[in-house]
Amino acid sequence: MTDIYLNGAFVPLNQARVPVMDRGFLFGDGVYEVIPTYGGRPVRWIAHMERLERSLAGIRLAPPLTREAWSDLCARLLAQQPGLDQSLYLHVTRGAPPTRDHRFPSDDIPPTVMALAKPISPRPATLAEQGVTVLVREELRWGRCDLKTISLVAAVLFAQEASEQDAEETLLQRDGWMIEGASSNLFAVIDGVILTPPLSHALLAGITRALVIDLARAAGLRVDERPISRTELNQAQEVWITSATREIMPVTRIEQQVIGEGCPGPIWRKLDAAYQDYKQHLEPL
Ligand code: PDD
Repeated sequence: MTDIYLNGAFVPLNQARVPVMDRGFLFGDGVYEVIPTYGGRPVRWIAHMERLERSLAGIRLAPPLTREAWSDLCARLLAQQPGLDQSLYLHVTRGAPPTRDHRFPSDDIPPTVMALAKPISPRPATLAEQGVTVLVREELRWGRCDLKTISLVAAVLFAQEASEQDAEETLLQRDGWMIEGASSNLFAVIDGVILTPPLSHALLAGITRALVIDLARAAGLRVDERPISRTELNQAQEVWITSATREIMPVTRIEQQVIGEGCPGPIWRKLDAAYQDYKQHLEPL
């Protein structure tokens, strides 16, 4: 049993408790981060810290810890299972006041701060040959999907529906335009150009998304951040989803529609190789 971090202490996971009045429990009033680490070294630590600070500012919650304090506690969490590739999960809620009230609690109520590390599951053995299937559904989340909040019931429903249909993910569309996945960002290769929807309040600024754009451009590939229509997605040569734990995942079927040749494409292979190489050259915490 590994320890998790909870409000300043390291405690065994099965002994960690939060009060029922916690606003995360009652309202989903909090934010989170997921940071992949390989050999104890994080992917784009500063970018994750900046996004956490943006999410906190977006829900008007002061940063509970300095970046240095986050770094120290994360190093301690990772050290429990040295050598393993692990994702760090950081979670901050607006704390547990004595009564339930939608309005913010008084300033003397401290936020609830939790963090844990868990091993990253290896990618499916068939991924590089077969890719994955995704569904497409109408967007039904809120207007600030750029904030990484713990209010995730829509994402839960989309994930469950995908799982029930043996799909990896649900892509979201609005008015015929693709947005992102329920827990990933979207890329498509159309006419040889790598496309991904531009950042806005409608989607999360994925750290993997930004990294993939940088790796692609460094490899001399063209990347355009521009809207992708539902119609052009079906005609794409390649489609990928990206996230901290999925890395770059090739999509070979959108519901019944086969993408490209029905197997992961050459540009995915090139970028996946660049991503795997990048993981070997990370900075320590
Ligand atoms: N999900 N979009 C959404 C809605 C997400 O939830 C995520 C990540 C992403 C990709 O962001 P990143 O590349 O920084 O992981 C995009 C995480 C992994 C999760 O919810 O567990």
